[in-house]
Amino acid sequence: MLEQRLNKELTEIAAAGLTRRRRILESPCGRMVTVDGKNMLNFASNDYLGLANNPEIAEALAAGAKQWGAGSGASHLVSGHQSPHEALEREIAEFTGFPRALTFSTGYLANLAVAPTLAGRGAAIFADKLNHASLIDAMQLAKTQGAEVQRYPHNDIAALEKMLAASSASTKLIITDAVFSMDGDLAPLPILLVLAERYDAWLLIDDAHGFGVLGQHGQGSLAHFNLPAAPRILLMGTLGKAAGVGGAFVAGSSTAIEYLLQKGRSYIFTTAQPPAIACALSKSLRLIRDGDALRANLMARIAQLRDAVAGLNLKLMPSASAIQPLIVGENEATVALAKALGERSLWVPAIRPPTVPKGMARLRISISAAHNAADIATLCASLKELT
Ligand SMILES: Cc1ncc(COP(=O)(O)O)c(C=O)c1O
Repeated sequence: MLEQRLNKELTEIAAAGLTRRRRILESPCGRMVTVDGKNMLNFASNDYLGLANNPEIAEALAAGAKQWGAGSGASHLVSGHQSPHEALEREIAEFTGFPRALTFSTGYLANLAVAPTLAGRGAAIFADKLNHASLIDAMQLAKTQGAEVQRYPHNDIAALEKMLAASSASTKLIITDAVFSMDGDLAPLPILLVLAERYDAWLLIDDAHGFGVLGQHGQGSLAHFNLPAAPRILLMGTLGKAAGVGGAFVAGSSTAIEYLLQKGRSYIFTTAQPPAIACALSKSLRLIRDGDALRANLMARIAQLRDAVAGLNLKLMPSASAIQPLIVGENEATVALAKALGERSLWVPAIRPPTVPKGMARLRISISAAHNAADIATLCASLKELT
């Protein structure tokens, strides 16, 4: 009976053509990947700087494991907080310009820590409609603790200001992706900070797709806009995308970070990442900081793609980031185009509802510093022939 119910729903998902399948990679993440025995040019990862299979980082991971073993053995507050974790936190704080940072095992857990901890009973949360699922889940959790939640239309500052002005909540929290994960566009962070100051709100910025990619030295979206590490900002960054490893951080004022450490349940009640991961991330941070050449190549490849696709029937969304969504519209047409590209050994994922709005199915083209000009030319030539 229990399984019957699940099977019924699984059949419905299949009938709607929405069954998700995992492709098994028989190679490391990189510019080229082997899938089902076939070598494919990879436009499907978030490895924006091409660091996921960087030999220096892999070496730091191996050396870290040799020195520190495989696991941390406990949560940070029990006995799992080791020197490499402590060092990484300090390095992230220094790199982002905030007084303090806290590391997490994943970005999902980092996001789950912030909203419910800072905004509980009597608080109000104001969130962009297109925020990442992990931010939405964090908001739902805050709601169960008595926070009031409002979502404003994507990047609609006037609507947000109206909500803020009408709110009498004692604590306010604005939440936004910095680079939106399915659209690739940027949040207007300078105006959001002005509003946060005007209405005395916290501002949580999820920089999963900006960290390492945007701003001077890859410091992220705040640096891109020349914004300061203001005490009311909480900056979340993931370390499994441009940083090429895994994990995440939240950086902020000393008080805010201490509060998260004391009260953030998804920080407290989980085993600390293996220390070797922290060793690998320290190396990755250095490569990011010294990675101007990688970022220059990435930006050149993004510009090349946008130029070449300009003449096609299908349009790229306005995006200056490594996420370049090509809007197709209908689900079937999107899947068919992704499949046709796949037959040409080009891996570009089709993104369909509910991840994106109905009628806005798209190819999510991810560009990486690992791509060369010929790779982009190959993709664009195929898109020209197939659309
Ligand atoms: C905007 C955004 N925030 C958070 C996450 C979650 O990060 P992680 O994969 O480290 O859990 C992701 C992607 O996975 C993301 O795209």
